[in-house]
Amino acid sequence: MAHDLYSRDAAAIGNLQKLRFFPLAIAGGKGARLVEEGGRELLDFSGAWGAASLGYGHPAIVEAVSDAVANPAGASILSGSNAPAVTLAERLLETFPDRSTHKVWFGHSGSDANEAAYRAITRATGRSGVVAFVGAYHGCTVGSMAFSGHSVQADAAKADGLILLPYPDPYRPYEGDPTGDAVLTLFREKLAALPAGAVAAAFIEPIQSDGGLIVPPDGFLRKFADICRAHGILVVCDEVKVGLGRSGRLHCFEHEGFVPDILVLGKGLGGGLPLSAVIAPAEILDCASAFAMQTLHGNPISAAAGIAVLQTIHREGLAAAAERKGKLLRERLAGLAERHHLIGDIRGRGLACGVELVRDRNTRQPARMETAKLIYRAYELGLVLYYVGLNGNVLEITPPLTVSEDEIHQAVDLLDKAFSESATVLDEVISGFAGW
Ligand SMILES: Cc1ncc(COP(=O)(O)O)c(C=O)c1O
Repeated sequence: MAHDLYSRDAAAIGNLQKLRFFPLAIAGGKGARLVEEGGRELLDFSGAWGAASLGYGHPAIVEAVSDAVANPAGASILSGSNAPAVTLAERLLETFPDRSTHKVWFGHSGSDANEAAYRAITRATGRSGVVAFVGAYHGCTVGSMAFSGHSVQADAAKADGLILLPYPDPYRPYEGDPTGDAVLTLFREKLAALPAGAVAAAFIEPIQSDGGLIVPPDGFLRKFADICRAHGILVVCDEVKVGLGRSGRLHCFEHEGFVPDILVLGKGLGGGLPLSAVIAPAEILDCASAFAMQTLHGNPISAAAGIAVLQTIHREGLAAAAERKGKLLRERLAGLAERHHLIGDIRGRGLACGVELVRDRNTRQPARMETAKLIYRAYELGLVLYYVGLNGNVLEITPPLTVSEDEIHQAVDLLDKAFSESATVLDEVISGFAGW
C-alpha cells in the first residue's frame, strides 16, 4: 500500500479538508479503477463521492478538456460570455421541464451552488426563512452550512428561521410512520405557527445522501412540494450527488412526477472537474448583478467537461444503464444479506445505493465500528467505498455510471470477503482515521 505519498500528504496538507477512512494514496485512474502509488489497482465504488460520473480518463472528457485548455475561451463568465459556458447553460435548460422561464448560474461546487441559490432566493423574494432536513448536507461554506442538518456541522451557525424536519426514512420512520405523512403533518404545524410569507425556500435532497442514502417513501416529495406551493415556498432540489443519470433518470425528481422550482447540480456534472450549476426561474437569477460570483465561475475548461458529461450520458444511455446496473447491484447485495447478518437494509435508486449495517436486525442498533472496519478491510482487498449516515453505519455505493456489470460482480465479491474478514482489523488501526 502507498505509504510514502500518504505520509507526504500528512506532512504537507492540513486536516481541515480531509475525510479519511483508510490510507488511500492515488497516483492515477482508469475507468472505475484507481491506481495507487506502486501500481496497485482498486475498484472505486464511491466514484470520488459521485464526482467521477464517467469514471477516470473517459475519452470524451479527455478530448473536450484538452481542446478547451489548448484554446481557452478566457477563464470566466463574469466580464464576458464564453462559448462553452453559454452552450452548457443552453444544454442544461434543454433538460429542464420549465426551460423557457429558467436560467442557469455556474459555480465550482455543490456548496457554492446551494449558497448562491439560497442568497438569491432570499434577495429576490424578500423572505428569509428556510426549510431543510435533519441529516441534510448542502455544503461546507458558511452559507450552505447555515441550512444543513448534518451532525458533522452541528457547530456551524444556522440561518435565522431555519426549520429542520426529520427526513422521511422508511427504515427508521419518524413517529413510526413509514409513509412519511407524520413528517408532513409536523411541517404543516410548523408553518401554521409562523406568519404568512415567513419562509422563502425548502431545500430537499430527493435521496438524502450523506445523511444515510435514504430513499423517501413514494409520493413524499410531491406531497411536500404541494405544501410548499400552498405557502409560496420555493422548492429547491439538491441533486448534487444523485442527479444526472445516477438515479436511473436524468434528474432524480423525475421518479416522483414533480418538478422543483430550482435544481442544484454539482459533482458528476464536471466529471471530476470543479463545476456546479443552479437552474432557477429567471426572476431569481436576474434579481441582482455582481451578487454571487467568483472569478473562475463559468470557467470554460470545466464547462467543456460539463458539455462532454451531458453528451456522454445521452449518447451512452447512462441513465437507463444506471437503472439496470443498480438492480443487479442490489440483487447481488441481497445475496450477501443472507450470509452477513450485519446487513439491516439495502436501498437506493439506480447507482445510488445504501447498505445500512446493524448489530441486531430486530433492534436495528447501528453497527458503527463494524462499518468502519468493513470498509477498511474492503480497501485492503482492493475496493474503495465509504460510509455515510448520522450513525456512521451506511455504506454509500455510487460508482461511476460507466462501471461494467463485471466490475459490479467483482466489487460485491470483494465486499463479501471483507464482511467475512473485517474482524481482523484492529480498533487502533481504525482510530487513526477520523471518518465523519
Ligand atoms: C447533496 C449534496 N449537496 C451538496 C454537497 C456539497 O458539494 P461540494 O462538496 O461539491 O461542495 C454535497 C456533498 O457531499 C451533497 O452530497
